[in-house]
Amino acid sequence: MKIEKNKSLKNNNTFGIDVSARKYVEIYDEDELKQLLSLSELKDEAKLVLGGGSNILFTHDYNGIVIKNSIPGIKIIFEDEKLCLVKAGAGVIWNDLVLFAVEKNLGGIENLISIPGTVGAAPVQNIGAYGEELQNTFHSLKGIYIETGKESVFEKEECKFGYRESIFKEELKEKFIITSVILELYKNSQPVFNYGTIKNELEKLPSVNYSIKDVSDIIAKIRNDKLPDPTAIGNAGSFFKNPEIDKDQFLELKKEHPEIPCFTSPHNKVKIPAGWLVEKCGWKGKRIKNVGVHEKQALVLVNYGYATGEDILSLAQEIKISVIKKFGIELTEEVNIY
Ligand code: EPU
Repeated sequence: MKIEKNKSLKNNNTFGIDVSARKYVEIYDEDELKQLLSLSELKDEAKLVLGGGSNILFTHDYNGIVIKNSIPGIKIIFEDEKLCLVKAGAGVIWNDLVLFAVEKNLGGIENLISIPGTVGAAPVQNIGAYGEELQNTFHSLKGIYIETGKESVFEKEECKFGYRESIFKEELKEKFIITSVILELYKNSQPVFNYGTIKNELEKLPSVNYSIKDVSDIIAKIRNDKLPDPTAIGNAGSFFKNPEIDKDQFLELKKEHPEIPCFTSPHNKVKIPAGWLVEKCGWKGKRIKNVGVHEKQALVLVNYGYATGEDILSLAQEIKISVIKKFGIELTEEVNIY
């Protein structure tokens, strides 16, 4: 275990922001993590766990220790004729787990293909795309409390999953480190493809017996066409969450904007695509010096080169103000800001 000092984090965040961590360490197994957490010299040090760094915006140097979680391993730990329990280390690249499942024709996460980040980060914000969310296949996870070094297992109900939410993003933020995740994947499952764009693409295929691989291939292509590749242009996917508003407010807005898109949401709420709101405020494709709003998906803010976290944040602030002025809706950030 090597603790580095004043380490640049430019390659550890997909926005490509050039900040540094006062201390930095990469860990590869649970014992190493426990050993690290027991070091007295780190007791009072602020700790930040990084996976793929694909949902974070750094606005300044990190004055503490960054723990890069690189715990590897994908293993089937149980199977019967219907399902498989698959355990993956928190440091596994999420997409590698999806490819593992697709290759074995195990259903449940194929719609989550090409999402950047690691397995350990996936439950933190209950990653989701194209009608699926992690919580739908989640079985349990294991991790370690930072303060005590004690291990704990969380079953699904204990994780308090919501739309891009979980207990690990709220009460347990900076208190608990996920070390492995178990998913429940299905043999012979029917892929979910209600999402408009996927359905249209699938209907172009000769057979109507769509496989898990058909769906994942189409989604990978759609994402590839629409979302910027972080290795080419810095970004963290959706910058904001899709806001949920009351049905009454929605009906009022619809009078003025009959074309407003929406997704249904529980509790008499309506979810509006934030990308549409941002686009309607004229931001899509706009560039201000080193930062901008992606030309194909207005929910994605991009770093064209040497932007600072503050540059991105001030663009986000301007966008939020204009959306409030035009629609009376307050956007909230999906990315974690440090
Ligand atoms: N739209 C626009 N203009 C835009 C972008 C979107 O008008 O520039 C409208 C369109 O009406 C479109 C609708 O928004 O039909 C939905 O767009 P899209 O399918 O791209 O999905 P999204 O709601 O913008 C969410 C997730 C994405 C996920 C996609 C696909 C959030 C915050 N984002 O985006 O997740 O890939 O659905 O399911 O929920 C991420 O979290 O980083 C992420 C990329």
